[in-house]
Amino acid sequence: MIATIEWKNNRVFMLDQSRLPIDVAYIECRDYLKVAEGIQKLWIRGAPAIGIAAAMGIALAAQEIAAEDFTLFMKKLDPVFSAFLATRPTAVNIQWAVERIRTLLRSRKDETISALKSLLIEEAKTILAEDVEVNKAIGRWGAQFIRDGDTILTHCNAGSLATGGYGTATAPMLIAKEQGKQFQVIADETRPVLQGARLTSWELMQSDIPVTLITDNTAGALMKKGEISLAIVGTDRTVLNGDVANKIGTYTVAVLCREHAIPFYVAAPMSSIDFSIPSGDHIPIEERSPEEVTHICGTCRIAPVGVKVRNLAFDVTPAAYVTAIITEKGAFRPEDIQKLRSPHADLDAIRIRAGR
Ligand code: MRU
Repeated sequence: MIATIEWKNNRVFMLDQSRLPIDVAYIECRDYLKVAEGIQKLWIRGAPAIGIAAAMGIALAAQEIAAEDFTLFMKKLDPVFSAFLATRPTAVNIQWAVERIRTLLRSRKDETISALKSLLIEEAKTILAEDVEVNKAIGRWGAQFIRDGDTILTHCNAGSLATGGYGTATAPMLIAKEQGKQFQVIADETRPVLQGARLTSWELMQSDIPVTLITDNTAGALMKKGEISLAIVGTDRTVLNGDVANKIGTYTVAVLCREHAIPFYVAAPMSSIDFSIPSGDHIPIEERSPEEVTHICGTCRIAPVGVKVRNLAFDVTPAAYVTAIITEKGAFRPEDIQKLRSPHADLDAIRIRAGR
């Protein structure tokens, strides 16, 4: 599996996903502003991956800080935290990473600044390593929903490239394959940035999982013909009531699934669950530049000069359309997600099992 992001020789190396699958090239980031730019410009994208990138960017920034005491160190880190929080608003993972790092630093405030700088590098590497384990666990819980002969629809890219490795929506597929199940995947191309065409189909082919690429507006026709067995997608932020924000067009897929009685699963690491927001109405939705819509891959204009554009990068699928949310702790009905907030929740009582 190709690395999405790495910490090497006190630098951050990110795979430039905006050039995939034509070129496989890494961008070397020597300072945190370059990492933040990479998140904003989609060199790295996908909720867990941008959380990891933010953690590495913070570690990078910290190495350059001159501070004699903890208070000054934190004060100088503040604009760094703000820079990452301002990059992309919908995925909660950047917020999650910043909070995790702030809490860690506060708990170690009596240590030397030099020790704290090393701690931040170790923490960023830990966040990356943990993400891979989390995804494998999502895969183990999710694989039960894939049966021999299934055709799985996925939208956008919630694969290895969107994470530290293994992916969230793709993890159940990878585990099902390891279990010897025979199935195929249909990838929505995912206008306007084409994560499905450029990234998902590319990485599934590398994993030897049979994949067929379709335009976004083909999904309904295939469902009507009985050619889709289930859908699995990722999420940028799932909230207390089980509403799910994900790539624009996910809501359309979910509504189509409901109409055709097709199970609709969301793979969601706990780092993408925001218990502080009661419903999807409160999730900030990123709107990106009109050029993503008026041009193909930034170069070829396909719309008239001056046309008005709306380019919402994400939408919200109401919990009612979601069959189950697959986390590293198990698969749950969306209405039970709120129970995961408590460390004492009886998970066995609320986990759901295959048997659709
Ligand atoms: O704009 P992107 O490419 O960052 O959008 C990515 C998605 O919507 C993914 O489905 C989501 O982040 C989950 S990634 C495991």
